[in-house]
Amino acid sequence: MSASVPGVLYQRVAAQIAERIERMQYAPGERLPGVRKLSRQFGVSVGTVVQAQQLLEDQGRIEARPRAGHFVRARTALPSPPSPSRPQSRPTLVSGQAMALRLVQATHEPGVVSFGAAVPAEGFLPVQAERAALRRTMAHYAERATAYAFPPGVPELRVQIARRMAEAGCAVDPDEVIVTSGCQEALTLALRATTAPGDVVAIESPTFYGLLQVIESLGLKALEVPTDPERGISLEALQVVLERWPVKACVLVANHSNPLGYCMPVERKHALLELLGAHDVPLIEDDIWGDLGFGHERPPAVLAGDRDGRVLYCSSFSKTLSPGLRVGWIVPGRYREPVSYYKYVSNLATATLPQLAVAELLAQGGYERHLRRVRGEYATHVARLSDAVAEYFPPGTRMTRPQGGCVLWVELPHAIDSLALHERARARRISIAPGPMFSATGRYRSFIRLNAALPWGRAVEQAVFILGDLARQLAEEA
Ligand SMILES: Cc1ncc(COP(=O)(O)O)c(C=O)c1O
Repeated sequence: MSASVPGVLYQRVAAQIAERIERMQYAPGERLPGVRKLSRQFGVSVGTVVQAQQLLEDQGRIEARPRAGHFVRARTALPSPPSPSRPQSRPTLVSGQAMALRLVQATHEPGVVSFGAAVPAEGFLPVQAERAALRRTMAHYAERATAYAFPPGVPELRVQIARRMAEAGCAVDPDEVIVTSGCQEALTLALRATTAPGDVVAIESPTFYGLLQVIESLGLKALEVPTDPERGISLEALQVVLERWPVKACVLVANHSNPLGYCMPVERKHALLELLGAHDVPLIEDDIWGDLGFGHERPPAVLAGDRDGRVLYCSSFSKTLSPGLRVGWIVPGRYREPVSYYKYVSNLATATLPQLAVAELLAQGGYERHLRRVRGEYATHVARLSDAVAEYFPPGTRMTRPQGGCVLWVELPHAIDSLALHERARARRISIAPGPMFSATGRYRSFIRLNAALPWGRAVEQAVFILGDLARQLAEEA
């Protein structure tokens, strides 16, 4: 960060102190200079320094010790990321996804620490702005809000979505956008339009379990392709798969994948398109996490490089505004007609009121500012959770270094069965997502995925401690 970081004065001072911490000018465990000294150094008031310190404390970068001042928070050395996956690359019918429903239901149980579902807690969502937008919408468009908005959906919303997609490097006309009930529906429509029951679909491994559920419900076969936790799907392995099997579609999350959190480099996105082009296979791109990277630049979508309508781009506002609004969209490229038809026959239309409200909220401005805030929050919470896992989990634990999103993929020592850990954690009112849910073939038995988008505090830190302890017990019993 530098002095040119936007924001108010105390945020700029905090960013500069954070930069000194990054450069090890102030080392972990070291005491920061006193407030008067810092106020002289930065040429700001003591009050501004105090506010900056408060912000850095909230971000978990420094800690106050009674009567001793502020210290740079000691960071436990983070363990290395898991090795690239090596799934058996053969098509498989998916089963055993019923557990996912129990897991998401647990997110609403009072008193459960919900590491299991990748659902941001309320504090990460602009609830006030949504409430105001819903109120304004009912006041101004009561009649429209109660009528159907048949596919492709509310025009004002499609205009706003097309504008936003420019941020991802995509020149999209509002007429190319079809509104859906969340990203999950967009994925379902994309797969219905490109495949028939029994067809083979290439996916990253591990993958988001919701995708496995769609594949299961459509009677498709999943073909898991080896994936590197830092660079994404192996293009070399994908090439072999495309040469060997009659793949009808490839589905992936190139920006801040769930559960790995990697962001595929731009050259690899181009190479992916070329490879799929050579085999004439459509790409279903799930970009739901694209706006939630930790870097300064929003990464481009794979769609940005598509010249022949091969990409069916799917996304939603579930991670940035609210999952409960159920507003998502698809830009289906050359598959517009079947996608529109399947959308209509599935549920006629997405609810009109949330579509109008999201259009209103985006038109008002402030969404970009909200994204900037929430990206910082996600980065801070992922860092805190990583620190806590590094501290409390047994030796031999490995974990990802996400570049965006809000989940950590944790590899436990091999003797530990994540399904047993899941059961024991449930008994302690902690939910986690066990690894086999992220594979069509029940792989990743010693992996778990943890959601970091929870209000950080004693209860959450204590829950990480309990998980680490339970993991240790299981390792000892094995
Ligand atoms: C990669 C990915 N795709 C799709 C979804 C589902 O999105 P929605 O709630 O908009 O249907 C999720 C939710 O966790 C996700 O992580």
